[in-house]
Amino acid sequence: MTIPIKNKEGIARMREACAIAATVLEQLKPMVRPGITTQDLEEAGRDLIARLGARSACYGYQHGSRRYPAHTCISVNDEVVHGIPSFRRVLREGDVVSLDIVVWHDGYVGDNAFTVPVGAMVPAVEKLLRVTREALDLGIRAAQVGNRIGDISHAVQTYVEANGFSVVRDMVGHGVGVSMHEPPEIPNFGRRGTGDKIKPGMTLAIEPMVNLGAYRTKTLSDGWTIVTADGTPSAHFEHTVLTTDRGPEILTVPRPLGAAQVT
Ligand code: MF3
Ligand code: CO
Repeated sequence: MTIPIKNKEGIARMREACAIAATVLEQLKPMVRPGITTQDLEEAGRDLIARLGARSACYGYQHGSRRYPAHTCISVNDEVVHGIPSFRRVLREGDVVSLDIVVWHDGYVGDNAFTVPVGAMVPAVEKLLRVTREALDLGIRAAQVGNRIGDISHAVQTYVEANGFSVVRDMVGHGVGVSMHEPPEIPNFGRRGTGDKIKPGMTLAIEPMVNLGAYRTKTLSDGWTIVTADGTPSAHFEHTVLTTDRGPEILTVPRPLGAAQVT
């Protein structure tokens, strides 16, 4: 499958969708504290998305015969991704909470994620979050025109493994644009110089999912929540990135909304 290339208008719309996704994520982060539930975060996220004139791309998302029941994905501790918010899940000091926000706006999708600690972390978890965030930075830096998708994968994997952690294999990053998942797949593991060539105008969701322990995962009986098989914590950081001749540009940054111009 060929990788969609966005034109100027598509890029302007992607900018807006991504800025909304980033704004929602940014506003949810400081709400993560002991005593609140993941359902509280869900409701705040749902309301913010609506207030910003967007729609959740997660709500009703179909996978097999199931539809995702919430507007946000909130994954705690050993939950890797696609955790379903719940009023039963009360956050406690020492938890780590991955927030994944995907919105539709004006026909385009913005996708980003961030892992937030609840209060103090033990050093190993602090390192897990730092290394995952840095792996995302390295993955983005590898998204240069003329490189290949495997260069992103390789950059993420080698950095994570050099730091003693493992990259999830069952879930991958992806192109994003007029739908949440477009070609290409962007694994967080792979070989340099393999995969599709990166050209200007691609919009890529780069998203290392990193486990403190082994890479294996399993799916809970709710059909959505992915957890580490060994029960160790996991971290997830994600940006939607535009590839350009001047280098990769992160689109999922909060900025004044409604200002995108078609030039
Ligand atoms: N960022 C997640 C992904 O790309 C969003 C999933 S929405 C869900 O897979 F509905 F599948 F949870
Ligand atoms: Co994604």
